[in-house]
Amino acid sequence: FPDRRFVVVSNREPYEHKWSQEVGEMEVRRPAGGLTSALDPLLQALGGMWVAWGSGEADAAAVDSHHRVQVPPENPSYTLRRVWLTHHDIHRYYLGFSNQFLWPLCHLRPDLTRVRSRYWERYRRVNRRFADAVLEEVQGKDAAIWFQDYHLALAPLLVRARRPDLTLAHFWHIPFPPIDIFRLAPQAGYLLRGMLANDLMGFHLPIFADNFLRCAKRLAGAEVDWEARTATLDGHTCQVGAFPISIDIDQFRQAAQADGVEEQMQRIRQRYAPKGGAIGIGVDRMDYSKGLPEKFKALEFLWDRYPEYRERFTFIQVAVPSRSDIEAYDDLSQKVDNQVREINERFGTGDWRPIHLIKQSLPVDRLAILYRTADVCMISSLQDGMNLVAKEYVASQIDGNGVLLLSLFAGAAEEMTEATHINPYDPEGCALRIRDALTLPAELRKAGMRRQQEALTGIYDWMDDLFHAWGGAAAGSAAARPP
Ligand code: UDP
Ligand code: G6P
Repeated sequence: FPDRRFVVVSNREPYEHKWSQEVGEMEVRRPAGGLTSALDPLLQALGGMWVAWGSGEADAAAVDSHHRVQVPPENPSYTLRRVWLTHHDIHRYYLGFSNQFLWPLCHLRPDLTRVRSRYWERYRRVNRRFADAVLEEVQGKDAAIWFQDYHLALAPLLVRARRPDLTLAHFWHIPFPPIDIFRLAPQAGYLLRGMLANDLMGFHLPIFADNFLRCAKRLAGAEVDWEARTATLDGHTCQVGAFPISIDIDQFRQAAQADGVEEQMQRIRQRYAPKGGAIGIGVDRMDYSKGLPEKFKALEFLWDRYPEYRERFTFIQVAVPSRSDIEAYDDLSQKVDNQVREINERFGTGDWRPIHLIKQSLPVDRLAILYRTADVCMISSLQDGMNLVAKEYVASQIDGNGVLLLSLFAGAAEEMTEATHINPYDPEGCALRIRDALTLPAELRKAGMRRQQEALTGIYDWMDDLFHAWGGAAAGSAAARPP
């Protein structure tokens, strides 16, 4: 959209300012999560504006009088416009409706949903606030607005109502559930109407797009053209498509072969696997959708049934604290701590610990080194829209010796057909797959990884596909509008 202002809108921001130990100094942090990891390189390449919640403790001190700051700090290339949330907004819109209702519902965990009228009321209000911020930024200008994820399902309709001339798209980064689950939402019709106001609605997989179209027809009364993959409501047509997201491949490849990486790999081996042997890696937010207890159960089976892997296979799990004010997340964190402690007590020896749990967020360059070092990467998601870690591991495997064990229930498994697929509900089966990976001859491991690297497409291909579809959808709705 060369002549238009380009605006991305999400709840989570790509850069958070915080106060450093030095009095009066600020530091910048990149929050962990697939949405910000994937989109930041695109915005850096394209320029434009990103509107998001200013969640950092020093965020307000970093912006100008229009709530804007140029990012990334080391090489400013686009504008971050911050939206401020109050304590109640955070509790009811972010932790409440978004993460205790929509997130569990979309990850097929209706048992974990909480329905509260005040959550919904605040979700509407905060969506309006995001819509207002966008409208303010594009006043008097032509613009392409790109909403992200489940926090902002209503904002597109609120923008469309005031600026029908703008082109709007939305990418849903998590699964979209089957109608039997989505219809449990008392507000299903409103949410769908909000999303149908876009010219383009994007999902990772065709099955999510199908689920959405079925819901749009049955729960919102839209007219669906299954062949054209469109849903029309109140005279507006929304194109619906599947665009499996990816990563900036070069960013990981470069970080994994930067100067000094080999020495760091050696230090990682000495520190975590002092007895030698193989290393496994897991990188997840501490989230119940990631199947961490199931992963550790599988590891327990491995060390129990195959004692030859004690001291010969060490697992490093990065588990970034996430949404810890929510009970289900806090419970999970405690459960994981206990499980890891028990496994380490059971199998650990004087100078060997089976599982190293790192409960902090690591920067990309550290992750890339861990990915390159690890002989096995294990992703055990119970439900996951895509899972970028799978792709990051493959991109960082410079030496090509690693094996990716990838849950069947991560969207990435649809594309990454050369990975070893695992079913996290079957811990014994997973333990066997780990053993197979550890005994696979080197030439087969290398050939398998090479095929996966060749098949990996990057974030710029994703952007091309999505923007191509968006261009077509925007032209269609402009033609349909009365002059
Ligand atoms: N991530 C990170 N630091 C960490 C752990 C994870 O930057 O310590 C990033 C990781 O590189 C990946 C993203 O967080 O890009 C996680 O994305 P994914 O799609 O795997 O899962 P999500 O967290 O979005 O559910
Ligand atoms: C997933 C969601 C993102 C979210 C990220 C991190 O990737 O799809 O929208 O930003 O998790 O979660 P958080 O709640 O910290 O933003």
